[in-house]
Amino acid sequence: MSHFIFGSRLGDIQKCLIPYVKPFSRILILGGGTGFLLDEISKIHKGGLAITCLDNSEKMIGLSKRRYWAMNNVEFVLCDIKEYQWESDYFDIVFTPFFLDCFDEESLRIIVPGILQSLRRGGRWLHADFVCKNCCSLTGKMMHRLMYYFFRFACNIKASSLVPLDPFLIGVNLIGAFSDSNNFTEAMIWEKISD
Ligand SMILES: C[S@@+](CC[C@H](N)C(=O)[O-])C[C@H]1O[C@@H](n2cnc3c(N)ncnc32)[C@H](O)[C@@H]1O
Repeated sequence: MSHFIFGSRLGDIQKCLIPYVKPFSRILILGGGTGFLLDEISKIHKGGLAITCLDNSEKMIGLSKRRYWAMNNVEFVLCDIKEYQWESDYFDIVFTPFFLDCFDEESLRIIVPGILQSLRRGGRWLHADFVCKNCCSLTGKMMHRLMYYFFRFACNIKASSLVPLDPFLIGVNLIGAFSDSNNFTEAMIWEKISD
């Protein structure tokens, strides 16, 4: 369904993140949805990864379980991110693929520090989402409105606008950034440099 509305954009921008996954990483995928990323990562890394897929939707976890993960070690966690017990300095990679757009600022104030805490130093936060600044153009506004209608229906999300992440980016360095040709979606790669 999202493919019908957004074409391949959502998947294409997430694929930009895959080369930043190092072999033998411990990975957390937040809001993995249907398991697209799990599949894509496992096409490149056929073993040696420990992947935790977290989602609060039983249906999405069910769809993820049908995906391909080769010889990787995969754990599925059905949990609301706000209830998740973050382990400190644990993950090499945390993915947020079209996930943080589900939350308002108050929730992000809880979630983003959790992500940063759970990354070990040198670990990477691989993020893909819609571009905030594009809200100014008419097409951008229409696409964002459509996107929120769609995800409210599909994933029962409460947020109604994108919250800029800049104020939360503490102790990380940007090491990569991509956007699609219409500057509608973006992928960012941050590396943790300090606690
Ligand atoms: C916008 S969808 C993105 C799905 C997938 N990453 C993709 O790119 O197609 C957001 C995902 O986050 C999950 N989600 C939303 N709120 C959540 C929460 N509070 N805790 C955990 N997962 C949540 C939804 O079930 C959904 O699978």
